[in-house]
Amino acid sequence: MAKVERFVGGVRDPAARGDSRAARVHPGRPLAVAGLAAAWLLAGAGDAPAQSGVAALAAADAAPTFSRDVAPILQRSCQHCHQPAGIAPMSLLTYREARPWARSIRDRVARRLMPPWHLDPTVGIQDYKNDISLTPDEIDTVVRWVDAGAPQGDPADLPEPLAFPRADAWEVEAILGRPPDFIVRSTPYHVVANGQDQWWSPELEFEGFDAPRYIRAAEFKPSYPLGIRVTHHGHAVLRGAEPAEGEERPPSVRLVGMGIGKRWDILPDGVGKRLPPGPGTVRFSLHYFPVGEEVTDVVEVGVWLYPEGEVPARVTAGERQFYVDGTHRERLRASDILIPPHGHLVLEDQYVLDRPALLQSFRPHMHMRGTEMSVAALYPDGRRELLSSVNRYDHNWQIAYVYDDDAQPLLPRGTVLMLRAKWDNTAANRINPDPDQWVVFGARGVDEMSHAWIGITYLDDAEYEELAAARAAERANESQ
Ligand code: HEC
Repeated sequence: MAKVERFVGGVRDPAARGDSRAARVHPGRPLAVAGLAAAWLLAGAGDAPAQSGVAALAAADAAPTFSRDVAPILQRSCQHCHQPAGIAPMSLLTYREARPWARSIRDRVARRLMPPWHLDPTVGIQDYKNDISLTPDEIDTVVRWVDAGAPQGDPADLPEPLAFPRADAWEVEAILGRPPDFIVRSTPYHVVANGQDQWWSPELEFEGFDAPRYIRAAEFKPSYPLGIRVTHHGHAVLRGAEPAEGEERPPSVRLVGMGIGKRWDILPDGVGKRLPPGPGTVRFSLHYFPVGEEVTDVVEVGVWLYPEGEVPARVTAGERQFYVDGTHRERLRASDILIPPHGHLVLEDQYVLDRPALLQSFRPHMHMRGTEMSVAALYPDGRRELLSSVNRYDHNWQIAYVYDDDAQPLLPRGTVLMLRAKWDNTAANRINPDPDQWVVFGARGVDEMSHAWIGITYLDDAEYEELAAARAAERANESQ
């Protein structure tokens, strides 16, 4: 399979990741996270995961046990989904629950299919706020545990069990400590038991505010328990009302985008998305997939604002859509997505940044034949750097890879963002529904699409200079 070897990417020492991981889950760390799976770390999970590396070292020769070595890994990287109210099919909270799945756990973990994290761990940026992937050591521990007969060990070694937020609760509420400032609800949609993909795009009146407000966080919450099973992805966009004669319509604001595995965005402290004053409408775009039983779903979008009158230091565009198909500018969008039976396709696209920018996140979107998407930066000085490569893309997951604050790509004016997508329409693609078909652009999962949602904040020159100087100073400090 073709890799992105054309790009120059920084290869990281995987051993170094263990350390940053321990730092990442330390309970004292401030919480400016977006994406999935962070809420329970904040909800007082303690620092058990940080201890697991130490425990693993001490037990290097002995067979790992569930209680001492495996349970901490499950707590940190699996249980958020694998608990009775989670989105996974089985609970992995206790030895009794996990033991029957040992073979399957070994298989999924060794092949890096679980936990879902499809980024290439060998190239590009490796510091992400929502990284739940296992280190090579952790994978090795799980494999050796199963190979040794999946022993329980001494229950006295078990870490404290985690407490999970209620399944129908706002995850962001658990993190920010307060309920949303306003909630928008879609009108109900009836998803049939069996059939093709379904779409629902209700548009609702929005009263609005008298003055501009700034969004700090937003969460997309399908109904529980059945709505979360049928909602594949969706978003909600706020559009200003028809402007008066001679006035311009304010730009639309994407409140939040959701995909399986990604429900919310929390912007870093001091960064906000501007909500123009006045009334408007909220338009939902919901993509449902039938699951064998009838489901009626209502989606709620919760929005957390900065306090009235507070203007955050930096205003972000949030997640913006970047097409990755070559011809959309001249012709119909994506007319160059044409994948032969048993064949592959690679498409590239590039965008010249006419202003400096800071990137917060990268979320590729393709459908069932999509297998890889990467983003690289070609700097004005000619350097080319691979930023992120999702080389095991899986349509069943829509994960936003959210950069750590100090790892966010800082791009000068004139940088070219280079995006590259790859599709595999052969039988080797595990989720290919039919390799005998020609595949073209379309909204169904069996058709194809190609774009990236990139969290981007445009900067003025002074802001860029200031950030660049701060980074340079930090680097100088580190190398002393
Ligand atoms: C973000 C949510 C999420 C996380 C985190 C997660 N899983 Fe899963 N897991 C799922 C979902 C959903 C499925 C069912 C769909 C599928 O098979 O991919 C699944 C399926 C599985 C299966 C296959 C079950 C079967 O039917 O054979 C295994 C085994 C598994 N997970 C183990 C793990 C382990 C071990 C971890 C942590 C190292 C983990 N998962 C982390 C959501 C998650």
